[in-house]
Amino acid sequence: MRILIVGGGGREHAIAWSLAESRKSVELFVAPGNAGTEELGTNVDIEASDVEGLVQFAIDRSIDLTIVGPEKPLVLGIADRFEDEGLLVVGPTAGAARLEGSKAFSKAFMKRHAIPTAAHRTFEAAQFDDAAAYIREQGAPIVVKASGLAAGKGAIVCETVDEALDALTAILRDREFGAAGEEVVVESFMVGEEASVFALADGRNYVLLAPAQDHKQIGEGDTGPNTGGMGAYAPAPIVTDEVMDEVRRRIIEPTLEGMAADGHPYRGVLYCGLMITDEGPKVVEYNCRLGDPEAQVVLPLLMEDAVDVFDAAARGDLDALGVTMRTGSAACVVMASGGYPGAYETGYPIDGLDEAARAPYVTVFHAGTGTDDDGRVVTAGGRVLGVTALGDDLREALDRAYDAVDQISFHDAQFRRDIGRKGLTA
Ligand code: GLY
Repeated sequence: MRILIVGGGGREHAIAWSLAESRKSVELFVAPGNAGTEELGTNVDIEASDVEGLVQFAIDRSIDLTIVGPEKPLVLGIADRFEDEGLLVVGPTAGAARLEGSKAFSKAFMKRHAIPTAAHRTFEAAQFDDAAAYIREQGAPIVVKASGLAAGKGAIVCETVDEALDALTAILRDREFGAAGEEVVVESFMVGEEASVFALADGRNYVLLAPAQDHKQIGEGDTGPNTGGMGAYAPAPIVTDEVMDEVRRRIIEPTLEGMAADGHPYRGVLYCGLMITDEGPKVVEYNCRLGDPEAQVVLPLLMEDAVDVFDAAARGDLDALGVTMRTGSAACVVMASGGYPGAYETGYPIDGLDEAARAPYVTVFHAGTGTDDDGRVVTAGGRVLGVTALGDDLREALDRAYDAVDQISFHDAQFRRDIGRKGLTA
C-alpha cells in the first residue's frame, strides 16, 4: 500500500512511524518530510500547501491513501481536490476545516449548536469602535483572537483592558497577522486546565484517541511567549472518564452532527482544544488535524494497526473497527533551537540521536531537522526534536524521555524540564 503523508514536522514523523509499525506492507512518501521521515520512506520535495502539486504526485505515483498533517492545505481544500480525483484522503474538506480556519465561523457554529464555549462577539475592521466599547464593557481578563490561521499565535490573553485594546489594534488595524486579522473574536477568559481531545471521524462514525495535554509556553511554569508546543503527555488525568463522557455527549457528537446537518460531514481528525472548567469542559478552539506535539504521544498509545485505522477513516468504515489505547503513559519533550519562538539559527549538527533512540521505549521524532552535505543530521527549524517515551505510568515515561534528552545535544538547544508535572500532581 502506498501512503502519502503531507507535512514535515514532528506530527508527520509520528504519523509515518505509526504506519511503519504496521503489520501490513507499506511504502511511505512524506511531502516535504524531514531527516526523520527520510529513514522511514521517501521524502518528496513538494511543499505541504502546494495542493495541485500533491494531487498530481498522488495520481502519478498511484498513491492509495493520503494523510494530511497540517491545517493550511486542509483550509486550502486539499481534501476536496483529492476527493474530486477519486483519491482516498484523511482530512476534512475546506468547508469542514473552517472549524479551524475561521474562529468567527467556529464560534457562530458553537452558538448555533449549543456547544459549550466562552461567551464572545465577532467584529470586522469597520467595527473597531464597537469592539473597543465591548472590551471596555466586559473588562479584563479577556481574550482577543485573530479569526484566521495565525500559526498558533493569534489568540492573545489580556490581563488588562489596555492590553486588550492594544491587541485589537495590532490585529484589526495594524494587521500584524495579515489576512487572519480581517475579523477579530473577543471572548471571555475561561478559568481551568487545558486539555486536547482528538476524535478521528469518517463522515458518519468516530473513534476517540487518548486525551493529551500540551505545554504551549516556552518557559517552565508556563511562562513566556507561546510556541507551537514544548511537550505533551497522554493520557491527561484531568480528562477523567466522566469528563470524557461529557466531552463526547456535549462537544464531539453535537459538533460532528452539526457539521453533517450543515452539509459538511467531517472526515479526519477533530481536535477539540478544551478548558476543563468548574462548569464542565468547554471548547477553547477546534483544530482540523492532529496536534503537534500531541500526535507524538497519542499515536504511540494506539493499540490498533495505524494503517487500518487511517484507511477505515478515509473509507467511512470506522464503525467496523474498535480502537483501544495501550495501558500506561507517553511523554514527549520538545528540544528547540535557542531563540525560538523568536529568531533562531539553523544548520547545527545534532549529536547523540542514535544513543538516545537505542534506549528501550524511546522514540526520537524529528521536527525541524535536515541533512547537510556531509550527511549529518542538522537543525533546520524552531522545534527540532520531540523526544518521546512510553512507561507504565507518567513518571516512568517522563524519566525515560528526559534520560534520552540528556543524551542529545546541539548548539544552544533549549527544552523545558517540567513537562508532565501537572499530570503527576493531578
Ligand atoms: N499543540 C498545539 C497544536 O497543535 O495546535
